[in-house]
Amino acid sequence: MNHTITVLGLESSCDDTAAALVRVGPRGAEILSSVVHGQTDLHAAFGGVVPEIAARAHAEKLDICVEQALTLAKLSLAEIDAIAVTAGPGLIGGVLSGVMCAKGISAGTGKPLIGVNHLAGHALTPRLTDQLTFPYLMLLVSGGHCQFLVVRGTEDFTRLGGTIDDAPGEAFDKTARLLGLAQPGGPSVENEALTGDAKRFAFPRPLLDRPGCDMSFSGLKTALLRTRDQVIEEKGGLTRQDRADLSAGFQAAVCDVLAEKTRRAIAEYLDETPSQPALAVAGGVAANKAIRARLETICTETGVGFTAPPLHLCTDNAAMIAYAGAERFLAGHTDDMTLVARPRWPLDKRSPALLGSGKKGAKA
Ligand code: KG4
Ligand code: ZN
Repeated sequence: MNHTITVLGLESSCDDTAAALVRVGPRGAEILSSVVHGQTDLHAAFGGVVPEIAARAHAEKLDICVEQALTLAKLSLAEIDAIAVTAGPGLIGGVLSGVMCAKGISAGTGKPLIGVNHLAGHALTPRLTDQLTFPYLMLLVSGGHCQFLVVRGTEDFTRLGGTIDDAPGEAFDKTARLLGLAQPGGPSVENEALTGDAKRFAFPRPLLDRPGCDMSFSGLKTALLRTRDQVIEEKGGLTRQDRADLSAGFQAAVCDVLAEKTRRAIAEYLDETPSQPALAVAGGVAANKAIRARLETICTETGVGFTAPPLHLCTDNAAMIAYAGAERFLAGHTDDMTLVARPRWPLDKRSPALLGSGKKGAKA
C-alpha cells in the first residue's frame, strides 16, 4: 500500500454508540480519535439491554459522537476518504441507526460508504494494534459471543468452533447476579474468586468429553444456581466465604473449558503450518487475569505468539470498524445506498450456524 487513507468509523450494534477516525498508510495504522458513549445507565434497571431504548439512544448520540471524533482528530468531513459502519450482526434498531447515519454522511459528502461486519472489526483489531500477519487464530470471548476463528484475510474467516448456547461473559454476569455481586459480573466474580477455594464445589466442564472446539456455558450457570440454593438451604444464607468459593469454582470451570478448547483450536490451526503462529484474544472476558494467564501458558507451551489488544480496543468501539473498513476499502470494496442492516451475519459462511450466540443479543 503506498497511499494514506483516513476512514470515519461508526458503531451502534449493541449498547455502545461510537465514532472514530483511523488513518492507514504505508507505515501502519493510527487511531486519530475514538469516542465511545456507553448506555449502561439507561439499561441498568432492566437487567439487560433493551433494544428499543438502545436504538433511540444511538439515534440521539451518533451525530454527537461523529462531531466529537472529528474535533479530537482536528479534521473536517471533507478530509476523510470513506465512511465505515457496522452493518451487523447486532440489535437491528441500533444497527439501522448507524447505517442510516453513515448513508446520510456519504450522501452529503459524496464519500464512499463501507459496510463492516462487527465481528470482523473485533477479529481484525490485532492487525491495527500489533500488525499481525494472516493467518492467525482468534478467540473472541465476550458477553455476547464466544468463538474460535482462523483469520486468513480481510474477508476470509474460518470458524473452528464456538458456544452452542450462552457466552462466558453472560455466564459471569448471571453468576454475579445470583451471588448478589455488582454488574458487570466478570470483574466482580474475578475479584471475589481471589479469596475463594476453587475446589470446595464441583462444577461441570461441559462438552470436554466431546471432540472439537464447540463450547457450552448454560449448564454451568444452572449448576451454580443449584449449588447456591443448596448452601442457602443448609445454612440459611450465603457467607462472604461461600460467595468467594462459588465464584472461584465457577471461574475455574470456565478457565478449564476455555483452556482445553483453545488447546484443540491451536492444534487444528497449527496443522496449516502458519509461518508466524499467533493467538489473539478479544472481547471483555479477555480482561480476566486467570483466563488470560492460562491462555498465555498454552501459547508458550505450543510455540504460538500471544496477543491481547488493550482493553478499550477489545470491547466495542468504532476504531475497529474504521480499521476493518479501511482494509475493505484498500482491497477495492465499497457499498452503496442499498447497504442493509443485518441482525445476523456469520463471518464464516461455510460453517453451519451455531444454535445460539448469547441471549443478550448478537453482540460481541
Ligand atoms: O466485549 P464486552 O465489553 O461487551 C460485549 O459483551 O460485547 O464484554 C463484556 C462482558 C461482560 O459480560 C463482562 O462481565 C465480561 O465481559 N467481563 C469479564 C471481565 N471483565 C469483563 N468477564 C470475566 N472477567 C473479567 N475480568
Ligand atoms: Zn463487540
